[in-house]
Amino acid sequence: MKINECYFANKNYLFSEIADKVEHFKKDRLNQKIYNLGIGDVTLPLDTKLVDVMERALKEQTHINTFKGYPPETGYDFLKNAIVCTYAQMGIKISIDEIFISNGAGCDVTNILNLFKDVTAVIADPTYPAYYDSNVLCGNDVILLPLNKSNDYKMSPSSLSTDKSYLIYICSPNNPTGATLSHDEIEKWVEFANLTKSIILFDNAYQCFIEDNSPKSIFEVDGAKSCAIEIASFSKCAGFTNLRCGYTVVPKSLTRQDVSLNSMWRRHQCTFFNGVPYHIQKGAEYVLSDEGKEICKNNIEYYKQNAKILRQHLSNSNFEILPSNNSPYVWIKIPLDMTSWQYFDFLLSTYGIVCVPGSGFGVGGEGYIRLSAFAKREDILDACKMLT
Ligand code: MLT
Repeated sequence: MKINECYFANKNYLFSEIADKVEHFKKDRLNQKIYNLGIGDVTLPLDTKLVDVMERALKEQTHINTFKGYPPETGYDFLKNAIVCTYAQMGIKISIDEIFISNGAGCDVTNILNLFKDVTAVIADPTYPAYYDSNVLCGNDVILLPLNKSNDYKMSPSSLSTDKSYLIYICSPNNPTGATLSHDEIEKWVEFANLTKSIILFDNAYQCFIEDNSPKSIFEVDGAKSCAIEIASFSKCAGFTNLRCGYTVVPKSLTRQDVSLNSMWRRHQCTFFNGVPYHIQKGAEYVLSDEGKEICKNNIEYYKQNAKILRQHLSNSNFEILPSNNSPYVWIKIPLDMTSWQYFDFLLSTYGIVCVPGSGFGVGGEGYIRLSAFAKREDILDACKMLT
């Protein structure tokens, strides 16, 4: 047996590298307050009503009549039904057996590679690092599509050959830049994917931050069910980064080489995954109820307001930022003659502010940093004062 040498070629995972640097810094500067605007991790506590629902569900485990063993690998029907209804409210028809409950988008967006061989991945540069890293660790070919001012920070298929098929990663609103694809722009990708028998992995982790009429699901676009898999998460929209729950939609009409990818993913999950705990799925079901949605809306508004405050302060002080209102992230051009990592060190050592260096998202991110609006309001305000 040989070990997978692709692991040597790959640098550390971006968010672990940042966490290590911050830990190291804290040991040297014990009294320095840290303003964490780095990783996009939620900071608002869970609502007590949500916790009550989960507590009641957990208590069911103490009674012989309601005790539950292994959860179904693809999720409980009550949660899948709630997701079916949420899609229906958007005018999208998804059936219960097209939904696979997961413990978050990160696992599915990387594990999905197990369904394919000889992959050529198409990934934006800059990009969410898990897309790129998982492909490099599997030894796949990767085509990077640069995002920059000249293309409005949006990927398009125009430079790709139509002679082969690809695994195409689309995150809209984009992490890290915040750029959001319109219906027409997604439609171009759907047409291209159907033409070339490619597969689109559509990551809609940030859909709840969309303020304009950009699609919140790729299935708003005709033709997507024969070329796309949608990966969704309760992390950012409902504060589940610790609880862990998400879902993946694999349409039954999605086939390649006459094989159903829905059946393949079912086979995969039954073998590689043990399901999400009952009480967590009960919590996820609750956040999709009218009452739960209202609670989540308040938290989302708080983070949106944080993003607005950051954007306003920074642009008033002549920082060059990407003008996106659909994202909890602010993508900022570094105002000094420094690399992304140098500016990261500068912000940390001067103010205790943690950002994400743009180059961590790919070479196309060099010269930029990303700030997260998931931080506490007081930290956002203090960071604005220090930076401007
Ligand atoms: C980010 O900061 O980009 C994400 O929150 C990290 C993640 O979702 O894994």
